[in-house]
Amino acid sequence: MSKVEIKHLKTEGHEVVFGRHSLAEMAELFSEDLYRDVKVFILVDENTLSSCLPAMISKIPGLEEAEVIEVGAGEETKNVEIVSRVWEVLTELGADRSSVLINLGGGVVTDFGGFVAGTFKRGIRFFNIPTSLLAMVDASIGGKTGINHSGLKNEIGLFNNPKSVYVDPEFLETLPRNHLLSGFAEMIKHALIFSPGYWKELLEVSLLDLYSLDDSIYRSIEIKNEIVSSDPFEMGRRKILNFGHTIGHALEAYSHESDTKTLLHGEAIAIGMVCESYISHKLTGLSAEQLKEISSFIFSLFSKVNLEGYTFHRLIELMRHDKKNRDERMNFTLLTEIGDAVFEVDTQADMVIDSLNYYQRWVG
Ligand SMILES: NC(=O)c1ccc[n+]([C@@H]2O[C@H](COP(=O)([O-])OP(=O)(O)OC[C@H]3O[C@@H](n4cnc5c(N)ncnc54)[C@H](O)[C@@H]3O)[C@@H](O)[C@H]2O)c1
Ligand SMILES: [Zn+2]
Repeated sequence: MSKVEIKHLKTEGHEVVFGRHSLAEMAELFSEDLYRDVKVFILVDENTLSSCLPAMISKIPGLEEAEVIEVGAGEETKNVEIVSRVWEVLTELGADRSSVLINLGGGVVTDFGGFVAGTFKRGIRFFNIPTSLLAMVDASIGGKTGINHSGLKNEIGLFNNPKSVYVDPEFLETLPRNHLLSGFAEMIKHALIFSPGYWKELLEVSLLDLYSLDDSIYRSIEIKNEIVSSDPFEMGRRKILNFGHTIGHALEAYSHESDTKTLLHGEAIAIGMVCESYISHKLTGLSAEQLKEISSFIFSLFSKVNLEGYTFHRLIELMRHDKKNRDERMNFTLLTEIGDAVFEVDTQADMVIDSLNYYQRWVG
């Protein structure tokens, strides 16, 4: 796509505006009468405050006077005490029902900000400007917002759609490499569950050339949006987005509770996708060649994590308690082939352990 092109994707009640000039459109919006007497708040974390806010203001000069609310960077921000502090700040700064919140940041800021906006005075309007790859292709799309509670991830939250999402890939220039790769894991997932053609495209993408990623980012947004629109409240088909996540979430949680190296979400999902592709080969007909193709690609991007120090039965316990599962049964989303997934496949612990061993034995 040309670098000046702006794409619009209509979704349930709002739209995604995509492109390196997409914020120019937001600038027009905020110069309209509609927003003239409205108080605007911009939510940032400490990193997007320094790396993204100046660029955003230069693209949307009308927001120069907006109040900036800063939270700490990282998952710890998604907690109810910090939500409560931000509610207080909004009140002190005179926010009312007509106010607008702009979330400028990664998935933590868009999840947290969407929740604050959905609850303050029974809901105020909000916009997402995702700045991490993961937030662009995943967290800012689909209407899920929320915070962690009682040690459980995303335990409290609501489905709450923004007015619009503005995706400007230029923000990725300052994103640390490991976070770029973490977001790329979700793009790989989109290809595996939905589109063999997109999979072939991703095999050719270079993460060293950020410009070359633009089309793929847009394709991922389209895929996520299409799946979510067909099942906004996750009654069925949306569950295919959980591919790689049953094992991935357990690994991620384990890496936080044990003294092994902490895994980023996408790093854990990458391992989960290798393991769940192995299970797909055993249970749902994924061919041996495609299993190898998937594994080789993922190992070519993500360094292998040594799982020797991991206690496998604790991982199984974490999977059984995952909120995706009912009755402690382990339900997996699996592939039948690259580009096609099935959900709620009942899977036994032995099979999961075999898959972790498959990952662990990989030598390329
Ligand atoms: N709502 C959903 O559907 C959904 C889906 C997937 C993930 N999530 C949530 O998203 C969160 C993870 O998102 P994330 O990986 O974006 O984490 P994050 O928001 O913590 O961002 C990662 C790091 O990058 C920094 N950062 C972001 N953009 C930057 C930029 N342009 N330049 C420099 N630094 C930048 C952040 O400050 C942070 O340190 C999790 O809380 C997860 O639960 C939600
Ligand atoms: Zn994910």
